[in-house]
Amino acid sequence: MTPSQALPLIELRDVVKDYQSEAGIFPALKGINMHVERGEFLGVVGKSGAGKSTLLNMFTGVDQLTSGEVIVHTNGESISLHELSENELALWRGRTMGVIYQSFQLLPMLSLVQNIMMPMDMSGLYHPRKSREYALELLDMVELIEHAHKLPSHISGGQQQRVAIARALANDPPIIVADEPTGSLDSVTADNIFQVFERLVQSGRTIVMVTHDKELIPRFSRHVEIIDGKLVNEGKRK
Ligand SMILES: Nc1ncnc2c1ncn2[C@@H]1O[C@H](COP(=O)(O)OP(=O)(O)OP(=O)(O)O)[C@@H](O)[C@H]1O
Ligand SMILES: [Mg+2]
Repeated sequence: MTPSQALPLIELRDVVKDYQSEAGIFPALKGINMHVERGEFLGVVGKSGAGKSTLLNMFTGVDQLTSGEVIVHTNGESISLHELSENELALWRGRTMGVIYQSFQLLPMLSLVQNIMMPMDMSGLYHPRKSREYALELLDMVELIEHAHKLPSHISGGQQQRVAIARALANDPPIIVADEPTGSLDSVTADNIFQVFERLVQSGRTIVMVTHDKELIPRFSRHVEIIDGKLVNEGKRK
């Protein structure tokens, strides 16, 4: 085992996130210590407003932290995310993480297939012809192939969510971070997507997923619960 394999994949060390607004300072994360192991399917549960999306934004580095550290140990190197420049971070994230945002964040001027091609083209990992072909395959997987050339505003919320899922898988990332990825889907479609995630974990990917759905808890390899910005239960791995 190389030293980096003995380390967890992601470590959060005393992560504090305060939001500053006109109403004052709001402490959204109050000193989070946790880790994500390689190959696990980690569920993050908690009530609305507990801090789940804020926590995911720390994992992905899309938002600044107030204090603490997020360290990712991959490919023999340890990266302190918040020490990277915005460009370095964007490049690193594009190759390492697939992120499914709670509010989807599709680009409104691009068609569905172009939205999915975007991370592939940005990373330079694929020839443009290949990226189009693979984007269409991903759209087929989420059963949206017939809508490939529509704009996001011309499809339903659940369909947009499935495009966001397909886009997150575009670079075949080793880590997937998903914020309520099935929140807008009917139960059958949600279960199909969950099974896609289960297969990705079986084939070695690591997934961190936020959900409100307590029925999903037994299907994660571990779950953590967040209440008012604090971790109250860092579950044992099954
Ligand atoms: N930009 C912001 N400015 C000020 N406060 C914020 C901001 N974003 C989130 N908050 C507050 O931080 C807390 C945590 O928000 P967060 O979005 O992480 O909750 P959540 O657990 O994801 O909730 P939900 O399940 O509804 O998505 C909430 O009380 C929210 O009002
Ligand atoms: Mg949220």
